Amino acid sequence: MIEQINVGVIGTGWCGGIRTKACSDNPLVDKLFIAEINDARRAEVAEQYDVHEAVSDWQNLILNPDIDTIIISATPETTHYPMALAALQAGKNVFMEKPIATTLEQADELIQTAIDKEVKFTIGYSQRFNSKYAYVQKALTEGLIGEPVTCLVSRHVTRELGSKISGRTALSPAAMEATHDLDFLLWCLRPRKPVKVYSQTAGKLFSKNSDTPDHQWILVTMDDGTTITVGAGWILPLGYPNYAHTWIEVIGTDGALIIDDSHKDVHLTTTKDGIRYPMSSMPGEPVNHTYAGPMYEETVHFLDAVCRNKPVLVKPEEAKEVMDLYTAADLSVERGEPVMLPVNSYG
Ligand SMILES: NC(=O)c1ccc[n+]([C@@H]2O[C@H](COP(=O)([O-])OP(=O)(O)OC[C@H]3O[C@@H](n4cnc5c(N)ncnc54)[C@H](O)[C@@H]3O)[C@@H](O)[C@H]2O)c1
Repeated sequence: MIEQINVGVIGTGWCGGIRTKACSDNPLVDKLFIAEINDARRAEVAEQYDVHEAVSDWQNLILNPDIDTIIISATPETTHYPMALAALQAGKNVFMEKPIATTLEQADELIQTAIDKEVKFTIGYSQRFNSKYAYVQKALTEGLIGEPVTCLVSRHVTRELGSKISGRTALSPAAMEATHDLDFLLWCLRPRKPVKVYSQTAGKLFSKNSDTPDHQWILVTMDDGTTITVGAGWILPLGYPNYAHTWIEVIGTDGALIIDDSHKDVHLTTTKDGIRYPMSSMPGEPVNHTYAGPMYEETVHFLDAVCRNKPVLVKPEEAKEVMDLYTAADLSVERGEPVMLPVNSYG
């Protein structure tokens, strides 16, 4: 058991801001460092939280022997691999926002480096820390609805968020949005493995300016015959900043679980903005002394895993399996036919 750790957060935008707050509040963290290239945002976060030192160059955090744990929340996602590799090679524990990498070779290298250096390494699949989702995993593991037959997750986020994500990366809705739900269902259905995937995209809005689809459906067959359907769309009109609307159906031989994660339970109407749904984004948001959503607890879990030497909930090998699945889904779109798994295109 380590009494306290020193943490560095790289990239303190939306998610990195939440991670910084969670670390700043936590007694397991002694010194908190941030690296942020946006001067105004760096000053804002440093002032808002208990930050020991704020720098612009992330390499300073890697070179600092005082820091034992790094959280990577920068964008674009292509920045993650060099940051994670450098941090792991320096013997630091690493929490990295999804995706694990942009190629399977990079994912393998990061996983192996973490093993060699005997440090914690995990990926931000935050929905596993949403209690509704954890309940599905618990119910399936305990056989509450018998043998699973079919699972559906349909998720839509706002076009504001869709433009932000697709504007910084060429990654598909499968890689950037459905990835959370593929991870969630693979986690729930373990030790079953995906064996086949078929995927289609549709696009009429974003396609006016780029080749980004508006929506992607992914249909997966598991090795015991269970089917998974995951839909990811990012063109909803604004309902609240970064609003997410999700509907889950899990049908089993002895029962069914229907989860409404549409965030319509809190309904705010103002003459200025009309109807809004507060506390409705995927990471969630602080509400005074409480936090509505999974990202805060996910961060606390990681700090706890490092200090108490406990296993991380999201193993990097699992994140690589998710990557293998959404990469195969994108290949299916390209080919217009089902793809068999695993796709070991690199060897
Ligand atoms: N788990 C979830 O629910 C969830 C939700 C949204 C986003 N994400 C993931 O979190 C990550 C961050 O997304 P976001 O929406 O917070 O992005 P963001 O754009 O709001 O924040 C990224 C920050 O990184 C900073 N940055 C960029 N390059 C940097 C560098 N070289 N050094 C230091 N700082 C740098 C930017 O200035 C910005 O402030 C992404 O990987 C995204 O996929 C996860």
